[in-house]
This record gives sequence, structure tokens and C-alpha cells, in this order.
Amino acid sequence: MRITEAHLYDALRTVIDPDLRQNIVDAGMVKGLAWNEEDQRVSLTLQLTTPACPLKDYFRSHITTAIQTVLSKEWTVQVSFISQTVGGGSESLPQVKNLLLIGSGKGGVGKSTLAVNLAIALARMGARVGLLDADIYGPSIPILLGLEHAKPQVREREGRPLLIPIRKYGVEVMSLGFLVPPGQATPWRGPMASNTLRQLLVETDWGELDYLIVDMPPGTGDIQITLAQQFRPQGAIIITTPQKLACADAEKAITMFRMPLVQVPIVGIVENMAYFWTPELPDRKFYIFGESGGRMLAQKYEVPFLGEIPLLESIVQRSDKGLPPALSDDVFLAAAYDTIAGEVARAVSRLALVSSV
Ligand SMILES: Nc1ncnc2c1ncn2[C@@H]1O[C@H](COP(=O)(O)OP(=O)(O)O)[C@@H](O)[C@H]1O
Ligand SMILES: [Mg+2]
Repeated sequence: MRITEAHLYDALRTVIDPDLRQNIVDAGMVKGLAWNEEDQRVSLTLQLTTPACPLKDYFRSHITTAIQTVLSKEWTVQVSFISQTVGGGSESLPQVKNLLLIGSGKGGVGKSTLAVNLAIALARMGARVGLLDADIYGPSIPILLGLEHAKPQVREREGRPLLIPIRKYGVEVMSLGFLVPPGQATPWRGPMASNTLRQLLVETDWGELDYLIVDMPPGTGDIQITLAQQFRPQGAIIITTPQKLACADAEKAITMFRMPLVQVPIVGIVENMAYFWTPELPDRKFYIFGESGGRMLAQKYEVPFLGEIPLLESIVQRSDKGLPPALSDDVFLAAAYDTIAGEVARAVSRLALVSSV
């Protein structure tokens, strides 16, 4: 049989992108297709909508099977990936493709820990990521990243002084904690707090970013609503523990983000402290806060469930030392954040594609 491009494209049309619900050829994802009959090798490049796409293994195996079905099992198939992150951006932050808020109603459920580790996991997958500590009443990102003494520089751009974010673990970081002495209280009232936050966002020289993760203060008040209205974020990630009280507050956050004057799409729900696990009793999971509260919330509001993180002593210990768990050698620990990062990236791409239709 003489191999033609048409043969190979027909084979590739049987591979469906489960999010786009379209085959990879018609979706315009196949970029470079080449083959060598002597070596019995096909190679191609697949363009993804995010470098953190969790479907790489899926695509690789389905493409290989599709090609081997029309040629033969002897052929090897090389799939490489490139990505162009989708995301609408906004007028006030044109260099940021996706502004993502980490929200929940309740304090202490793990927003800041998730924000830091999600940002790092996305950056490790090749995305350009920024992290803004918007909890201006109690900034904790400097501690979580071991940046208690960091002092951002200022540079002029087009006649305007801009703060230069601090780069740590591959992430561009800004926090009010860098600008006020540690331990000093910031007793701002609503409008002033919102204004400070707006300033931190627009007066930081973020550069081009695929994702800007915003660690929000607890609650469903003025700061959240003002930020949503002024910046039109691409999505909010809701974090909760399985506990009834935490879930009730997470519901309030979902309702707030869905209010007609707010309208921030919900990316999905992360369940933190899903169960307690200890290496001393490796076969047991202790559901101390109840079971599956976050998962049920995702079902109720018909939003993606983005994953769960167990309650682990090592998360507290590492976080307190400024050593994010996402960078741990412990595969189990790092994998929990990698999984969530992949699911977040995937859900954000889906939202971008839906809103561009
Ligand atoms: N999965 C987890 N396992 C154990 N401790 C956690 C976990 N997630 C967060 N923590 C700890 O819980 C406390 C509160 O987390 P934090 O991220 O600061 O919450 P928030 O920003 O919502 O107030 C911190 O001490 C943090 O180290
Ligand atoms: Mg916090």
C-alpha cells in the first residue's frame, strides 16, 4: 500500500478530543505530520489549549492505535505537543489570559495552600503563571513561599512606576505582605481594601501570563464582588473541606459568583482535607470531617470536581517552612496537586472555548 497524507488524516479523524467533542484533525490540532517508510515511523505535533493538559497520555495512545490500525503494529508513532493557552484576557489586564480566583466562604480551609501549590504545579507543566496574594487582611503567601523578607523593586514602564513581582519556584508572585512590615495589621475598610487590591493587580508588571492565580480573602463581600466586576475573571475555583459548615459557606461563594452582577464562571470544586492519612496506618483513611462533601457540592451545582487533597501532617510542616508540598519528592503528595492543576487547566480551556463560540 502506498501511504498518503489522506490515509493518515483519515486514521487521525478517529481520535476524538473529549472536551471539544470533535476529532483532532477537524479541530485543527494536528500541526506537523511526517512519515518515513524505511524506518516505519510516523511523527506528528499536536497543539493543545494548555501546557498543563492532562490528556497527553490519552492522545498519545489513541493516536498510536489509530495509525497502527491503518498501517501495522510494526510502525512507531511519535507524538509531540505544543500548546497555545486559550483564555479571553480582559481590558484591564491585557497580558493575562486567565485570571483565576481561589475562593471559598470560610477561612482556614486551605485557600492559600492551594493557590501556592496550584501555581507551582501549573508552572512546572510549562505554563506562565502569576500568583497574587489578595488576602490583604492576612497575607500568608510570603510565608508559604519562604519570602518573608522579599522587597519588590519598582520599574518605570511607559512613564508609570510598576512593581516587579518576585519570581519563586517558576511563579511571579506579588503580595501586600511584601510592602508592609511582617506582623503589622492592615485594618482597612471595604472600599480602601478593594482599592488596594485593584492597585496591586494593575500596578504589578506581570508580563505575559497564561494563568494569574488570586488567593482571595475569606468571605463573600465587597472585595470579592468589586474584583469580579472590575476585572471580569475567567473563573473561580472553589475550595472546601467535606465538613457541613465549610460546604455551606462554599455554597454561598458559588451563589455569589453566579449573581447577575458578578457572573464569574465556576471552574470547579476542590475538596481539601478530604480524609486524614498517616504513613503509620497506610491502609486506612480517616474521614474526620465527613465524606465527599465537595464532590456532592460539585454534583449539586453541576460543576467539575477538580480533585481532593488529604489532610497530611507533611503539608503543614512543609508549608510552614516555605517548602511547597507540590515540590515534594513524595510522589503521592506532589501528584495530588498535579492532578488538580491538570483538571483546572482543562476546565479553564473548556470555559474559554464555550465563551468564544
Ligand atoms: N491538605 C492539608 N493537610 C494538612 N494541613 C493543611 C492542608 N491544607 C491546608 N492545611 C493547613 O491548614 C492551615 C490553613 O490553610 P490555609 O491555606 O492558610 O487556609 P486559608 O487560606 O483558606 O485560610 C495551614 O496551617 C495549612 O498548612
Ligand atoms: Mg489564606
